[in-house]
Amino acid sequence: MPAAYENFVVDRDGRIAVLTFTREDRLNALDAQTFRELIAAADDLESDPSVGVVILTGGGRAFVAGADINQYVDRTVLDYVEFQRLGRRMYDRFERLRQPVIAAVNGYALGGGFELVLVADLVLATEEAKLGLPEVKLGLLPGGGGTQRLARLVGRNKAKELLMTGDFLTAAEARDMGIVNRVVPADDLLMAAHALADRLLERAPLAVQMAKQLVNDGADASLQTAITQDMGMTATLYDTADAREGIAAFIEKRPPVFAGR
Ligand code: COA
Repeated sequence: MPAAYENFVVDRDGRIAVLTFTREDRLNALDAQTFRELIAAADDLESDPSVGVVILTGGGRAFVAGADINQYVDRTVLDYVEFQRLGRRMYDRFERLRQPVIAAVNGYALGGGFELVLVADLVLATEEAKLGLPEVKLGLLPGGGGTQRLARLVGRNKAKELLMTGDFLTAAEARDMGIVNRVVPADDLLMAAHALADRLLERAPLAVQMAKQLVNDGADASLQTAITQDMGMTATLYDTADAREGIAAFIEKRPPVFAGR
């Protein structure tokens, strides 16, 4: 019996899990309960060996329009910090999820929604999607790690422009900055996300997982340290049944059948 969540649903399509935000009347804004449930969902997804890829998307006209601003009314600074810490736990959890995470951005991805995009591994967006960090318009800044992740991804000055103006990017602008992998028509979004997930599922799972980890961890290491880490992981992969299968399949001119070990 799949767990029931208040503000999102998790559907399965074979080895693909699709997490769809359902709080459409609030443009899928994230409150503390949703953060907690997302952490629980990440734990469930990661420990389920039958889940190979996770797709995140939103119901209605938003992906996620940010943290729920109602959480910020008449709270103490300690409550505010606690909420941000909870959010950070959730973003870190999805960034480090064993499986690849695809964000299928169907509309507004603002504030905490943009921060969720920034922890996904691959990002598809509809032509109408808008992405931005508007916290400065509230007198705040992103608390989920988005400031630093954005600067590392797009560079200092572009990150400052987004953070300091709070302006929204179109999907095409976000693609040109390297935030979005591909822009697709709205009607094709989920099909494109499933097709991308299927491509990942054809690859050797451990190699895909290690590629994710190496790029994530390498971003904060010196080049030489990161390259040494690459060597350790690829040597580990060489000793797996899947690498033996992949190499044999190439030599025998047949498609590989990977078992994830
Ligand atoms: N938190 C709480 N409620 C939110 C929300 C958020 N982050 N974003 C949207 N909503 C609510 C609105 O208050 C509105 O509720 P209502 O119907 O009870 O009035 C409903 O969702 C629809 O939003 P609305 O503002 O009417 O839609 P719009 O098309 O005019 O504008 C946005 C869309 C996304 C531009 C606008 O909702 C917005 O700026 N949202 C806040 C974005 C933000 O600052 N995010 C960072 C938060 S830290």
